[in-house]
Amino acid sequence: MTMPPEGHGTRILGTGSATPEKVLSNQDLEQILDTSDEWIRQRTGIRTRRVVDQSTGAGTISLACDALENAVANTGIDPLEIDLIICATCTQEMTCPSAACRAQARVGAFNAAAFDLAAACSGYVYGINIADTLIRQGRHKTIAVIGADAMSTVMDYSERSVSILFGDAAGAAIITRDENPERGCIYQNLGADGRGWECLYMPRREIDVPESDKETPIRLGCLRMNGREVFKFAVKKFLSVIETTLQEANISIDDVSQLICHQSNLRIIESARERLGLEKDRVYVNIDRVGNSSSGSIGLCLDELNQAGRIREGEIVLMVAFGGGMTWASSLWRV
Ligand code: COA
Repeated sequence: MTMPPEGHGTRILGTGSATPEKVLSNQDLEQILDTSDEWIRQRTGIRTRRVVDQSTGAGTISLACDALENAVANTGIDPLEIDLIICATCTQEMTCPSAACRAQARVGAFNAAAFDLAAACSGYVYGINIADTLIRQGRHKTIAVIGADAMSTVMDYSERSVSILFGDAAGAAIITRDENPERGCIYQNLGADGRGWECLYMPRREIDVPESDKETPIRLGCLRMNGREVFKFAVKKFLSVIETTLQEANISIDDVSQLICHQSNLRIIESARERLGLEKDRVYVNIDRVGNSSSGSIGLCLDELNQAGRIREGEIVLMVAFGGGMTWASSLWRV
């Protein structure tokens, strides 16, 4: 959907993020799984991930709260100016209340409505697209979007093909109205294909385990993944979503200063980068340090780039994600 040029636009007022202190390295995983640092690095590009210390009660809610608190501090905004909080997550400790409500209470954003959004790894991009649309429609003026996932809390650490990939993180952005209608999200795409749900799912009940997965032992509450199918889907989808986004917005890839891809697997990101002919410094990568943090991934990348002064006013930034559902999303911004 292309945004209308009339009316007003939006801008990213500022960003924040949170990652747990505890590091889980490939060497640590070698101690508990039949795997090797070399295998993990070659197949995924990951060296370390961050994981919450569950014994202290840390998890998705604390990460979401920390990331929003950090964004509020970085922008200097009065929290009472925030009128909506959207938290994308697939690892809530509680489904009621939402993590967004907990973050609202933590930062004192008492004028904000708050809800959680479930679109797995696409959640953060879904969130910023919804925020941009609501602000352009005039329904809201300042929206905080959080992506937060404590993936380590839903990992079966005896399942080597899944647990090596994921880590914990949260990113937050505060998006506000801007008088320039050309500024903000200039094209967005949200998509889903529920027929692929069995590729990535988190069963709470035995009865929900699909026939295709019944032969292997299942740990309820943990993420299940068909890595090969997801890999094939992701390589194709990333490229087609990026190409469609640029075509529809009539923007050349040469005009994109930063491509921020969901950090799922370095090979998937590199395949898109090579096919698009982009230099390495225009495609952000942090998966080597933090692994795949699902909804936390793109928000964390955006904040790291922003804190490094690499999100410059007037430049074009493209964010692209895919994930369980299956879902996908793109968001093209003039920042
Ligand atoms: N260490 C060592 N060997 C492992 C391993 C591990 N951690 N995990 C799997 N293997 C083994 C398999 O058992 C298999 O052995 P076999 O040939 O004897 O049967 C072999 O490695 C190849 O397995 P395969 O599943 O084909 O590996 P792969 O090259 O597809 O890599 C993933 C596995 C998970 C890294 C890859 O499929 C992937 O990244 N998929 C996308 C996942 C993703 O992006 N998920 C997030 C979505 S948001």
